[in-house]
Amino acid sequence: MLRAFRADLAIIKERDPAARGTLEILLCYPGLHALALHRVSHRLWRSQLPGAGLLARSLSQLGRWLTGIEIHPGASIGRGVFIDHGMGVVVGETAVVGDHCLLYQGVTLGGTGKAHGKRHPTLEANVVVGAGAKVLGAITVGGNTRIGAGSVVLRDVAPDCTVVGVPGRVIHQSGVRIDPLAHSALPDAEASVIRNLMERIDALEGELARTQACLRELAAGRPLQEPCRGEAQNLKDREILEFLGTNA
Ligand SMILES: CC(C)(COP(=O)(O)OP(=O)(O)OC[C@H]1O[C@@H](n2cnc3c(N)ncnc32)[C@H](O)[C@@H]1OP(=O)(O)O)[C@@H](O)C(=O)NCCC(=O)NCCS
Repeated sequence: MLRAFRADLAIIKERDPAARGTLEILLCYPGLHALALHRVSHRLWRSQLPGAGLLARSLSQLGRWLTGIEIHPGASIGRGVFIDHGMGVVVGETAVVGDHCLLYQGVTLGGTGKAHGKRHPTLEANVVVGAGAKVLGAITVGGNTRIGAGSVVLRDVAPDCTVVGVPGRVIHQSGVRIDPLAHSALPDAEASVIRNLMERIDALEGELARTQACLRELAAGRPLQEPCRGEAQNLKDREILEFLGTNA
């Protein structure tokens, strides 16, 4: 535990240019205090001794009162993790935070409310989660990935990516910038549904133009050369329904 505390202290020195000395870090970094309390409560939680669970939860609550950072004692937190500023951070019971991850204030590593068992995210090593970002569900965020401030991430993310937006979109992968207009490179449902709807609108516009041409022919008293009948457009296809989360 002492080694983990030292690593947490060292990473603050390394990563925060505002940190001017060990004493200042010991006194003024709520993330360090919350992690120190968490390491004790996590050990108690895992000990399975009678009453240890309640004690662990109480310690975690004490950490929340003192720092504004709520870490469930069941969460696994790696070495050299830095919670910067910290206020409003919530880390759920089955969350896993890899070594050297950086979490800013307002980050939630939470559940979606739909699952039991493992229901919180796993962050691999060296992930940065920007201020106010929400990472929800039993998903895995690959190592060295950066999640933009205010993003909401609901799907697995590969290593070495940058994710921004609601829902989170990959904008960089392994240093290569992904063009948001290169639809085939966008892995998310939103772009796919928009593409789908654009195709439908194209088809409907074509159909409307054909119908108008038919009406013009009829108004001029000319016989129709071809039957004025197009293919029916069914907007309720599976992809769109899945995106909307409805069976309607
Ligand atoms: C996500 C982040 C890491 C991206 O950094 P980057 O790789 O340098 O990316 P860029 O600044 O080149 O931005 C790339 C695109 O993403 C957009 N973008 C960047 N951050 C964004 C965010 N948080 N939400 C939505 N879009 C964002 C930019 O506007 C830009 O869009 P454009 O190409 O249409 O102009 C960074 O912007 C971020 O949010 N870091 C978190 C920092 C933080 O929380 N600080 C708190 C300190 S207290």
